Amino acid sequence: MHIDPLEKKWATISLLIAGFFVTILLISSLVHNIDAPGQVETIDSARLHLSKEFAEDNLGLQTDSNGKITVRLVAGRYGFVPKHITIPAETEVTFRWVTSDVIHGVHIPMTNMSTMIVPGYVAQVTTVLKRPGEYPVICNEYCGMGHAHMWSNITVVSKQNWLKKQNGEMNNG
Ligand code: CUA
Repeated sequence: MHIDPLEKKWATISLLIAGFFVTILLISSLVHNIDAPGQVETIDSARLHLSKEFAEDNLGLQTDSNGKITVRLVAGRYGFVPKHITIPAETEVTFRWVTSDVIHGVHIPMTNMSTMIVPGYVAQVTTVLKRPGEYPVICNEYCGMGHAHMWSNITVVSKQNWLKKQNGEMNNG
Protein backbone atom coordinates (compact mmCIF):
# COMPACT_ATOMS: atom_id res chain seq x y z
CA MET A 1 0.00 0.00 0.00
CA HIS A 2 1.38 3.35 -0.96
CA ILE A 3 1.27 6.12 1.66
CA ASP A 4 2.33 9.58 0.67
CA PRO A 5 5.45 10.59 2.68
CA LEU A 6 3.82 13.84 3.79
CA GLU A 7 0.76 11.95 5.02
CA LYS A 8 2.99 9.47 6.83
CA LYS A 9 4.78 12.35 8.54
CA TRP A 10 1.53 13.89 9.79
CA ALA A 11 0.18 10.50 10.89
CA THR A 12 3.35 10.01 12.96
CA ILE A 13 3.02 13.47 14.52
CA SER A 14 -0.65 12.83 15.46
CA LEU A 15 0.21 9.50 17.04
CA LEU A 16 3.05 11.08 19.02
CA ILE A 17 0.69 13.80 20.33
CA ALA A 18 -1.89 11.18 21.36
CA GLY A 19 0.87 9.14 23.02
CA PHE A 20 2.08 12.25 24.87
CA PHE A 21 -1.41 12.89 26.31
CA VAL A 22 -1.86 9.26 27.34
CA THR A 23 1.54 9.44 29.12
CA ILE A 24 0.44 12.57 31.01
CA LEU A 25 -2.80 10.82 32.07
CA LEU A 26 -0.85 7.80 33.30
CA ILE A 27 1.63 9.95 35.25
CA SER A 28 -1.24 11.95 36.86
CA SER A 29 -3.01 8.79 37.85
CA LEU A 30 -0.10 6.61 38.96
CA VAL A 31 2.30 9.21 40.41
CA HIS A 32 0.04 12.07 41.56
CA ASN A 33 -3.00 9.94 42.40
CA ILE A 34 -5.32 12.15 40.31
CA ASP A 35 -8.16 10.10 38.85
CA ALA A 36 -11.52 10.61 37.25
CA PRO A 37 -14.40 9.64 39.57
CA GLY A 38 -14.70 5.88 39.40
CA GLN A 39 -17.82 5.15 41.36
CA VAL A 40 -21.41 6.26 41.16
CA GLU A 41 -23.26 6.31 44.45
CA THR A 42 -26.62 8.01 44.76
CA ILE A 43 -28.27 9.66 47.76
CA ASP A 44 -31.42 11.70 48.37
CA SER A 45 -29.97 15.19 48.88
CA ALA A 46 -33.24 16.61 50.20
CA ARG A 47 -33.33 14.08 53.03
CA LEU A 48 -29.69 14.06 54.16
CA HIS A 49 -30.64 14.93 57.73
CA LEU A 50 -32.84 11.82 57.80
CA SER A 51 -30.27 9.55 56.14
CA LYS A 52 -28.32 7.17 58.35
CA GLU A 53 -24.93 8.17 57.08
CA PHE A 54 -25.19 11.94 56.79
CA ALA A 55 -27.37 12.73 59.80
CA GLU A 56 -25.82 15.54 61.83
CA ASP A 57 -24.39 13.24 64.51
CA ASN A 58 -22.43 11.24 61.94
CA LEU A 59 -20.68 14.17 60.27
CA GLY A 60 -16.99 14.84 60.68
CA LEU A 61 -14.26 12.30 61.32
CA GLN A 62 -14.89 8.70 62.31
CA THR A 63 -12.42 5.87 62.83
CA ASP A 64 -13.77 2.36 62.40
CA SER A 65 -12.59 -0.73 64.30
CA ASN A 66 -9.88 -1.42 61.68
CA GLY A 67 -8.45 2.08 62.13
CA LYS A 68 -9.79 3.25 58.76
CA ILE A 69 -10.57 6.97 58.83
CA THR A 70 -13.64 8.36 57.07
CA VAL A 71 -14.65 12.02 57.02
CA ARG A 72 -18.22 12.96 56.09
CA LEU A 73 -19.01 16.53 55.10
CA VAL A 74 -22.07 18.30 53.79
CA ALA A 75 -21.68 21.24 51.42
CA GLY A 76 -24.46 23.80 51.33
CA ARG A 77 -24.86 27.45 50.48
CA TYR A 78 -22.39 28.80 51.65
CA GLY A 79 -20.20 26.59 53.72
CA PHE A 80 -19.12 23.10 54.66
CA VAL A 81 -20.44 21.25 57.72
CA PRO A 82 -18.59 20.67 59.97
CA LYS A 83 -16.76 23.95 59.52
CA HIS A 84 -13.44 22.63 60.78
CA ILE A 85 -11.92 19.18 61.10
CA THR A 86 -8.56 17.77 62.18
CA ILE A 87 -6.97 14.77 60.49
CA PRO A 88 -3.58 13.00 60.80
CA ALA A 89 -0.76 13.43 58.28
CA GLU A 90 0.70 10.50 56.31
CA THR A 91 -2.52 8.55 56.82
CA GLU A 92 -5.09 7.42 54.28
CA VAL A 93 -8.30 9.37 54.81
CA THR A 94 -11.50 8.79 52.84
CA PHE A 95 -13.63 11.89 52.35
CA ARG A 96 -17.31 11.51 51.52
CA TRP A 97 -18.93 14.72 50.34
CA VAL A 98 -22.60 15.44 49.69
CA THR A 99 -24.54 18.62 48.97
CA SER A 100 -27.80 19.69 50.54
CA ASP A 101 -28.76 22.08 47.74
CA VAL A 102 -26.98 22.93 44.47
CA ILE A 103 -23.75 21.80 42.79
CA HIS A 104 -20.68 22.74 44.79
CA GLY A 105 -17.07 21.77 44.33
CA VAL A 106 -14.25 21.11 46.71
CA HIS A 107 -10.61 21.85 46.17
CA ILE A 108 -7.70 21.58 48.57
CA PRO A 109 -4.75 23.23 46.81
CA MET A 110 -1.60 21.13 46.27
CA THR A 111 -3.43 17.86 46.95
CA ASN A 112 -5.45 15.44 44.82
CA MET A 113 -8.66 16.71 46.45
CA SER A 114 -10.67 18.30 43.68
CA THR A 115 -14.15 17.12 42.87
CA MET A 116 -17.64 18.34 42.05
CA ILE A 117 -20.32 17.68 44.66
CA VAL A 118 -23.47 17.03 42.67
CA PRO A 119 -26.97 16.85 44.21
CA GLY A 120 -28.10 13.24 44.38
CA TYR A 121 -24.61 11.76 44.48
CA VAL A 122 -21.87 11.01 47.01
CA ALA A 123 -18.42 12.28 45.95
CA GLN A 124 -15.75 10.08 47.48
CA VAL A 125 -12.04 10.93 47.45
CA THR A 126 -9.30 9.05 49.27
CA THR A 127 -6.22 11.07 50.00
CA VAL A 128 -3.05 11.18 52.08
CA LEU A 129 -1.93 14.63 53.25
CA LYS A 130 1.79 14.42 53.80
CA ARG A 131 2.66 17.59 55.69
CA PRO A 132 1.08 18.85 58.91
CA GLY A 133 -0.41 22.35 58.76
CA GLU A 134 -3.54 24.29 57.91
CA TYR A 135 -5.16 23.48 54.57
CA PRO A 136 -7.85 25.63 52.96
CA VAL A 137 -10.96 23.88 51.63
CA ILE A 138 -12.41 25.91 48.77
CA CYS A 139 -15.65 25.62 46.81
CA ASN A 140 -14.65 25.66 43.16
CA GLU A 141 -18.04 25.47 41.44
CA TYR A 142 -20.07 28.67 41.13
CA CYS A 143 -23.01 28.11 43.46
CA GLY A 144 -24.56 31.55 43.94
CA MET A 145 -23.92 35.01 45.36
CA GLY A 146 -21.93 33.70 48.32
CA HIS A 147 -19.70 31.37 46.30
CA ALA A 148 -16.55 33.42 46.89
CA HIS A 149 -17.09 33.16 50.65
CA MET A 150 -17.63 29.39 50.66
CA TRP A 151 -14.56 27.94 52.23
CA SER A 152 -13.47 26.08 55.30
CA ASN A 153 -10.24 24.59 56.60
CA ILE A 154 -8.62 21.37 57.69
CA THR A 155 -5.90 21.04 60.28
CA VAL A 156 -3.44 18.26 59.57
CA VAL A 157 -1.44 17.15 62.63
CA SER A 158 1.62 14.91 62.55
CA LYS A 159 0.90 11.20 62.75
CA GLN A 160 2.87 11.04 66.01
CA ASN A 161 0.75 13.72 67.71
CA TRP A 162 -2.40 12.13 66.35
CA LEU A 163 -1.57 8.71 67.84
CA LYS A 164 -0.54 10.33 71.11
CA LYS A 165 -3.91 12.10 71.29
CA GLN A 166 -5.81 8.87 70.43
CA ASN A 167 -3.96 6.92 73.10
CA GLY A 168 -4.49 9.73 75.62
CA GLU A 169 -8.22 9.63 75.00
CA MET A 170 -8.25 5.86 75.44
CA ASN A 171 -6.34 6.02 78.73
CA ASN A 172 -8.67 8.67 80.06
CA GLY A 173 -11.55 6.33 79.32
CU1 CUA B 1 -20.35 26.34 46.85
CU2 CUA B 1 -19.36 27.68 45.19
